Amino acid sequence: MNLTKNQVEKKVNQLCKDLGIIKIEELLAGGVVSDVYSAKLRINKEKDKNIVVKYTKEKIPSKNIFSTLDLKDSFSEIQKVHNLDINIQKCIEINTPKIIRHFADESITVMENFTDSGYKLLQTRILDEEISQDIGIQLGTILAKLRIELKEKGSEFNQIENSYNQFHERFLELKVLLYNSRMDIFNQIEEDFLNSETNFLVWTDGDQKNFAVDEKGEVMIFDLGRSIICDPDFMLANLFGHLGLFYIGGFLDDKFMITNGIKAYLETYRKENHSYIIDEPKFVNYFTASLLHRGMAMRWIDPRIASKVGEDSLKYACMHYGDVIFSKENRVSSIDKALDVLGEITKLAKNGKYKRPKLQK
Ligand SMILES: Nc1ncnc2c1ncn2[C@@H]1O[C@H](COP(=O)(O)OP(=O)(O)OP(=O)(O)O)[C@@H](O)[C@H]1O
Ligand SMILES: [Mg+2]
Repeated sequence: MNLTKNQVEKKVNQLCKDLGIIKIEELLAGGVVSDVYSAKLRINKEKDKNIVVKYTKEKIPSKNIFSTLDLKDSFSEIQKVHNLDINIQKCIEINTPKIIRHFADESITVMENFTDSGYKLLQTRILDEEISQDIGIQLGTILAKLRIELKEKGSEFNQIENSYNQFHERFLELKVLLYNSRMDIFNQIEEDFLNSETNFLVWTDGDQKNFAVDEKGEVMIFDLGRSIICDPDFMLANLFGHLGLFYIGGFLDDKFMITNGIKAYLETYRKENHSYIIDEPKFVNYFTASLLHRGMAMRWIDPRIASKVGEDSLKYACMHYGDVIFSKENRVSSIDKALDVLGEITKLAKNGKYKRPKLQK
């Protein structure tokens, strides 16, 4: 049975008796997989400490299930996904929220509230237009460091989610519907994603909702449980593909942020692997597929993303971008060219060129 807010408060107080008294406040997010609450921790007569309590449910509501296959193979394991997240966070040296207590049997974690040290969700910073140009450098660097750490330590963890299901959740609809005349490309993406020779544990959920940034531009990552064995090259392209949508939406005005991010990633990663070169066609494929996936499935994004150009324009612009990049005659496989196309399409979106005409009654 899933616990209600009051039950989570009761449970966490039983579990943390030695720590102090926890008063749960508002639900920060979720209602899907996890309930994340802001809370106050009172230790004797000290000043209340801001904390966060993350509780992962036993059962996911059916309205939020993508497919029954998911339910069988992935979402029945969501509590294990939560525990994998915390185990990875504990084991890596990269900046993550400080964990105060974790209870694996109950899938409840008590953490420091990162807003207390000046961090804010990357998505919120972007939408509040508080992003400095060199954010790309920080993001690229942290993902390269994560890649190095997961390569070394990833085998210590058991994969929970099924890699095929994750691929299908993200890209199946693109392959069978939107781009069914370009099955070759999506088959290639699937092959690269699942069967690359260098596959190891990869954080596939690294989008703007799972990063936090402080006032100085310092970056933190969290929510690492949806990590699966797949192609490590996916991580960077996936994040920037998501950010590409914010770029079209008029919230990131510098495409060099992506170029700088890639450069910083390469610089950091080459300390581990001197001869590493980025596979540009593969990057463009992943980047485009991630952008399309998010553009067609905006349910999980803050609706403010559409406040400047409109949701219809965002969708059409994404499709136009995808059609150009995956064109049969003139397929784009260089990163610079793909970013140029994105820049051009963003200008069109800004000028209202993708607005859907009103139907005459
Ligand atoms: N340590 C923390 N400090 C402050 N806020 C946090 C912390 N951890 C999580 N949050 C907030 O709760 C939200 C959800 O957390 P998290 O990503 O871990 O859960 P989730 O179930 O994957 O949710 P979502 O599906 O929205 O990503 C975050 O976007 C953030 O706003
Ligand atoms: Mg999350």
